[in-house]
Amino acid sequence: MASVAPPRHGSNSFRIHEDVPSTEDTQMNEDVEHGDHDHDEDPEEETEEQVEDQQEQEYPESEASESSEDDGVVDGNILHDMEKLQSAIPGFRNQYRLIKRIGEGTFSTVYKAEDLAYDRFDNSWDMEKDNEKWTPPPLKSFSTQSTATLDHTQRRRKPKYVAIKKIYVTSSPTRILNELELLHDLRDCQSVCPLITAFRQTDQVVAILPYFRHADFRQYFRKMTVPDMAIYLKSLFTALSSVHANGILHRDIKPTNFLYDPASRRGVLVDFGLAEREGGTHCICHDDPVARKTRLRAALHSSSAPHNGFPKQDTRPSRRANRAGTRGFRAPEVLFKCTQQTTKIDIWSVGVILLTILSRRFPFFNSADDVEAMIEIATIFGQKRMRAAGILHGCMFDSNIPTIGQVGFSLERIILWSTCRDNGEKLSDDEKKAVEFLGRCLELDPSKRISADEALEHDFMKLGDRVDGSGPEDDDMDILNPVYEI
Ligand SMILES: Nc1ncnc2c1ncn2[C@@H]1O[C@H](COP(=O)(O)OP(=O)(O)OP(=O)(O)O)[C@@H](O)[C@H]1O
Ligand SMILES: [Mg+2]
Ligand SMILES: [Zn+2]
Repeated sequence: MASVAPPRHGSNSFRIHEDVPSTEDTQMNEDVEHGDHDHDEDPEEETEEQVEDQQEQEYPESEASESSEDDGVVDGNILHDMEKLQSAIPGFRNQYRLIKRIGEGTFSTVYKAEDLAYDRFDNSWDMEKDNEKWTPPPLKSFSTQSTATLDHTQRRRKPKYVAIKKIYVTSSPTRILNELELLHDLRDCQSVCPLITAFRQTDQVVAILPYFRHADFRQYFRKMTVPDMAIYLKSLFTALSSVHANGILHRDIKPTNFLYDPASRRGVLVDFGLAEREGGTHCICHDDPVARKTRLRAALHSSSAPHNGFPKQDTRPSRRANRAGTRGFRAPEVLFKCTQQTTKIDIWSVGVILLTILSRRFPFFNSADDVEAMIEIATIFGQKRMRAAGILHGCMFDSNIPTIGQVGFSLERIILWSTCRDNGEKLSDDEKKAVEFLGRCLELDPSKRISADEALEHDFMKLGDRVDGSGPEDDDMDILNPVYEI
């Protein structure tokens, strides 16, 4: 690595590399710090509703998660798309060798590629670079791809892999810029996948990220022991602690957005496509309880709506709030359209992941829309607590569905049922600790819900120390080390 090489992600404010009026072979990265912001307002920008609809995706998850198998045979259609991508960005072939598609999400297609120009840049994001030894070149060669001529030294180095996120051209420029800017702001955060660089050519934006080996959640979550869960969550909360310290809400915490490698027990948080800075307009959930009660009473008395039942024609203006996220992972305050959502919405989603692992059921929540999602939550927590949760944000929750009881069920009961232990069997001591922790993540009141920092200090996390190689001495290791394959 030459010391004069330009950094691919610098400390200045984030700039997308602009397309240059040039031919196919123009080098892409040379002036990465000098491009202009792609900042034009899009007159046809997606509305909030569209964003929500787009993100209303069904589980099962995409074929996104993969286990880093070797370069294999690539399907003809995918090859065609890869070819298109390589031709769309000038100089692409000199920099990257596309290997395969590793993910197809709502907003992007992600490819695995070899970073051919690695040696020409300052790769401060790559924590592995110093402990690298010479390794023989890979045995398999990928002949279907056209690659740039590699020099001798490059061939002798362990190949360096990147993930290339090709953002769909239908995404609004504001959204794309938001994702890249937030990633840039979070570049030094532990367990958050850093952004190496990004390119734009006309309406096509691609983000380049280090490639992280990871396994499909569905393949490992049923085999996880409670200490395994603690290690998994420690990694995820480490990422969230830094994200939240920066005042950023991820908004889409779910298994496919946390790339975890059970072999090395490391994970990184990806996909800041829906992330946003904390803010919003005032909601009464942020008032002190006495002031909130007074305001609610006053509102109830002045309301012309009938106090029992629902108005036939509701003339009240509809409430608007950011509801972006994935079905089944939305916090109650998101469902109640709280206008001042906080980082605690991410903690709820982590709770849903833990509930999934403990119950061995995926997806755990399977609602078609937000009303069904409320019903699912109310079935567990009971009508009384759900009503209190709604009132926090000035919403009334009521239902005459017979399966929603007044008090609901304990989480312990839910786990026992879903793991078919309803014959008097008890949870193990470790499971009890996990369920107690789960209760802290699934607090209906966001102000009472545990924070990422508190979670990292919780006794439950200590269970992970029992597993070999995950003790405190390991904590100092930078969890961001990408795992490269030979
Ligand atoms: N750095 C990376 N290393 C390895 N794989 C990655 C990386 N980034 C993304 N992926 C793969 O691509 C998938 C999709 O990425 P990402 O979540 O960023 O895109 P998306 O279009 O927003 O997806 P979705 O809408 O499904 O959430 C991930 O689930 C993961 O499997
Ligand atoms: Mg995703
Ligand atoms: Zn609120």
